[in-house]
Amino acid sequence: MSTRHFLRDDDLTPAEQAELLDLASSLKQLPYSRRPLAGPQSVAMIFDKPTLRTQVSFGAGIAELGGNPMLVEGRLAGIGVRESVEDVARVLGRQVSAIVWRTFHQSDLDTMAAHADVPVVNALTDDFHPCQLIADLLTVREHRGALAGLTVAFVGDAACNMGNSWLLAGATAGMHVRVSAPEGYLPEQAMVERASEIGATTGGSAAVVLEPEKAVAGADVVVTDTWISMGKEAEEAARTQVFARWSLTPELLALAAPDAIVLHCLPAYRGKEIAAEVIDGPQSVVWDEAENRRHAQKAVLAFLLENSR
Ligand code: NVA
Repeated sequence: MSTRHFLRDDDLTPAEQAELLDLASSLKQLPYSRRPLAGPQSVAMIFDKPTLRTQVSFGAGIAELGGNPMLVEGRLAGIGVRESVEDVARVLGRQVSAIVWRTFHQSDLDTMAAHADVPVVNALTDDFHPCQLIADLLTVREHRGALAGLTVAFVGDAACNMGNSWLLAGATAGMHVRVSAPEGYLPEQAMVERASEIGATTGGSAAVVLEPEKAVAGADVVVTDTWISMGKEAEEAARTQVFARWSLTPELLALAAPDAIVLHCLPAYRGKEIAAEVIDGPQSVVWDEAENRRHAQKAVLAFLLENSR
């Protein structure tokens, strides 16, 4: 058996994604029922970008799995600066049972996975945020039952990690994923094609719908994310202008299905990508979504560890 990693959403087959969601639900019911890290074994957590939810939910989750969450200070380690990603991977792989890494370039994560010999988990890169999507799908499943056949509209900066991850993970779950953004902030065509290819096997689909009103019309799930992802701070003024029409306001949400639910991975900027009335309103499930990070990531770690032995 070889080492399994979770680097992007389509690392999981549809059956594996469903298995992982079932495991996350059961771990939510019985938090200490799986102890793959008993010992305790250590898991390295490295953050090269800011974090709140990811650090806390991995830290608490690793402890609940019987393990020791070890925060490796990215700036001290100087990965790729002080020593190569390959050498860091070889060293960490001899000390810990898994590596959780938030960084910029997907290619660095791939390099870590190629040389670490223990499971590597993407805790967000510029391109993907797959752990968030397991939490998001778990949340949708809890509120709406089955995922297959539901329509999800992602409005806002669809060229970021969350847009890409919704395309791949949503299609894997058999959902119809519509992404809506201004020209220049859409996912790469190859990403939409990859999601469509997955959708062809699951009954799901992927589409770019430029007008936010059309994207949201009749949707079961409406998702947005900050317009200014970590690393894009210098573009704040321009982005705030260009995205204004994609703000998730009560008027835009009113076009969705009457029982539509609203997700946001947080941090949220009220009055920008989402109105306060929406995120703090009755259709918002963002606090469940934030809680579900822990249950989802425990399932990811348990799945990878148990399938790597
Ligand atoms: N797209 C956002 C997600 C934050 C969890 C970012 O990369 O900053």
